[in-house]
Amino acid sequence: MNINSQRLTESLDALGRIGAYTDESSGLTGVRRLAFSQEDGEGRRHVVAEMKAAGLDVTIDRIGNVYARRAGRDASARPVMAGSHIDSVATAGRFDGCLGVLGALEVIKTLNDAKVTTRRPLIVAFFSEEEGARFGTDMLGSAVAVGRIPLERAYALTDRDGQAVRAELERIGFLGSADVKLAPPHAYVECHIEQGPMLRAADIDIGIVTGVQAICWHELVITGRSAHAGTTPMNLRADPGVAASRVQLALREMVRSGRFSDQLRATMGVTQFQPGLVNVVPNRVVASVDIRHPDDAVLVRAEAELIGLYAQIAIEEKVTLTHRQSARTPDIGFAPKVEELVASSAAKRGFKAQRIVSGAGHDCQELSKLCPAGMVFVPGEYDGISHNPREFSTPKQCADGVNVLLDVLTALAEEQGP
Ligand code: GLV
Ligand code: MN
Ligand code: MN
Repeated sequence: MNINSQRLTESLDALGRIGAYTDESSGLTGVRRLAFSQEDGEGRRHVVAEMKAAGLDVTIDRIGNVYARRAGRDASARPVMAGSHIDSVATAGRFDGCLGVLGALEVIKTLNDAKVTTRRPLIVAFFSEEEGARFGTDMLGSAVAVGRIPLERAYALTDRDGQAVRAELERIGFLGSADVKLAPPHAYVECHIEQGPMLRAADIDIGIVTGVQAICWHELVITGRSAHAGTTPMNLRADPGVAASRVQLALREMVRSGRFSDQLRATMGVTQFQPGLVNVVPNRVVASVDIRHPDDAVLVRAEAELIGLYAQIAIEEKVTLTHRQSARTPDIGFAPKVEELVASSAAKRGFKAQRIVSGAGHDCQELSKLCPAGMVFVPGEYDGISHNPREFSTPKQCADGVNVLLDVLTALAEEQGP
């Protein structure tokens, strides 16, 4: 069996038109479907309609996760689940997450066309606010589904404008009634773009994902004293902008020192200066820190050092600096059984495959707490750029990944046992 590559491409394009915007600097068309925005609501309704058109039974839980079920020959057998997310960062392409959801749906359509019924039921899922781009915590929906984050805590999270998760879910019509606690599936598989340069540079067709690196996010609030930029002598200032810049340089120094191996990644992606005026020393800066490492023990050391640096910089710059850990996940290893199935499908289909650790976070790492789980990566063009309108994987790259997903899902769905 093979999936229909053209149908997959068309479905990625159709979802990509929802929340499309023109990127001013490049003129490219990007996607903006922040979790629980109007655009996300529209995207969700579109995908749910596709799920229903494919004959699936759709359930929505109380955090807005969507599960679409296809019956198996044995109704009592635990289902095999595949999926990802359709929410996006504010500057996205049309593949991140969507390939995993629409790819799984393409597998269902392929089985429907071939009139194949698997022993185990199949479930196509998409999880809420995977990006954390709006409410500050990534993998939110899947983390609630596996019990890592309590529902009430998730409901209370707010975005920059003070809008809360529960109210926003209700507003877009996706506050479902199903229990958020997910019954353990037999297995979970996610197909995703690599979002990095490695596979493409090595001319690899399929990444066999062995796990996800550890991730730590901080939100920094730095408070100083506003002043006139022209009249206030430098030694009388308490400038939180300077403190934020020093944190950013300290991050680069930590990476360059090699003390955390060459695998530490460190990013300051947000800096919001208040009042944000050319001739005013800011009084408040909100900034973010994202640090990652494949080894959780190393990330623990890096975070501790960073917290010490915050204190030192605050004293030296005469500001107050508070940090809140807004996301934290350890490194996760996926199930060797799923890795083997990905590897053997790739070999059977003549694809060049390579094992790879994911640099990005994924819903699969949450699901791996409930059941054997694993991922299929496909390469991306332009150095695998992602979280950017240039994000692009060719129809063949996408189809290769989804064909492997088809093989892995159908193999898992025939397995014996409860
Ligand atoms: C999710 O895209 C992440 O930040 O890794
Ligand atoms: Mn993603
Ligand atoms: Mn993403």
